Amino acid sequence: MKEFLTSSGKYPRRYILILISVAILAVGLNVPTIAESEEPPPSSATINLIDAQIAQQLATLPTRKVLVRNDKLYGGDHEYEGYKIEAVIAWLSQRTRVSVDNAAMSFIASDGYLSRVSLRELPKRAGILAFRESGGSREKPFRDSKSATVPFNPGPYYLIWEGTFDDKLPTPWGVTSVSLAADDIPAEHIPPHDTPQLNRGLEIWRTHCSKCHAINKIGGTMGPELNVPKNVTEYWQPERLRELIENPAALRWGSKMPPYNWMPIGDREAILAYLAAMKEKKVCNSEVTCH
Ligand code: HEC
Repeated sequence: MKEFLTSSGKYPRRYILILISVAILAVGLNVPTIAESEEPPPSSATINLIDAQIAQQLATLPTRKVLVRNDKLYGGDHEYEGYKIEAVIAWLSQRTRVSVDNAAMSFIASDGYLSRVSLRELPKRAGILAFRESGGSREKPFRDSKSATVPFNPGPYYLIWEGTFDDKLPTPWGVTSVSLAADDIPAEHIPPHDTPQLNRGLEIWRTHCSKCHAINKIGGTMGPELNVPKNVTEYWQPERLRELIENPAALRWGSKMPPYNWMPIGDREAILAYLAAMKEKKVCNSEVTCH
């Protein structure tokens, strides 16, 4: 009984002390939390991977090594090391507050090449945002690749997938920034008429052309803008344009544009029809005057 009394007399005081410390701790912890959440959330804007602070955050992500057979860049079997692509996506989603449910990730290279991957169509292979070839040093993470006419370096970041190298998978190199955005078709790219041929053209545009070209200022910047202020069909003869899309090298030596002669003729006609139709839908403003 005595024991019970003393303990019942002691415990409440101890509880109060604990409660007070918890309260102090909570207030102490809460201050920075509130301050943090008051910062504006980062938008879905492009994130510069070269930024020192971003590089530090990336360095905390899990890495993996992948073996690429028949490697296009260095030949033979080649191993790379990089951040797990699923971890990069999760990190990007947290930073941009873009849900991964219906999003597309863009990989932007220093030369303006933009590779856009719908997360629903992410290859079912182990992928990495490679930061070095296995054995690469801190000073020289990647050796120069001699696979093209001009030697080039795939760094600072190179998206690569485990298994036999496949041209059809997205493998952008020279990646310097990434972005995550809802996987919507930009209004600036929707054709002026809703016909099967134009819709097919839009599909081809999105899959093959917009990584290098912009229409109404949206898209890659490696190749020229094709709609504003002048639509490409306003200054190219249709027959020449047909030849260019079939095989750019037939018109221009050393063209950076790939040939599309492998594409069914109906699809090539669809992309031409799409390009021509877009002249009816120029998005003009103070920056781009169309007339
Ligand atoms: C890898 C990047 C790349 C891709 C993909 C690409 N192009 Fe090009 N394209 C270029 C570049 C670069 C030029 C500029 C000159 C050159 O290198 O030939 C060009 C030039 C053009 C031109 C001529 C524009 C002008 O005024 O000189 C047209 C039209 C064109 N591309 C259409 C397309 C279409 C349609 C597709 C998709 C089926 C496509 N391109 C895919 C890079 C690309």
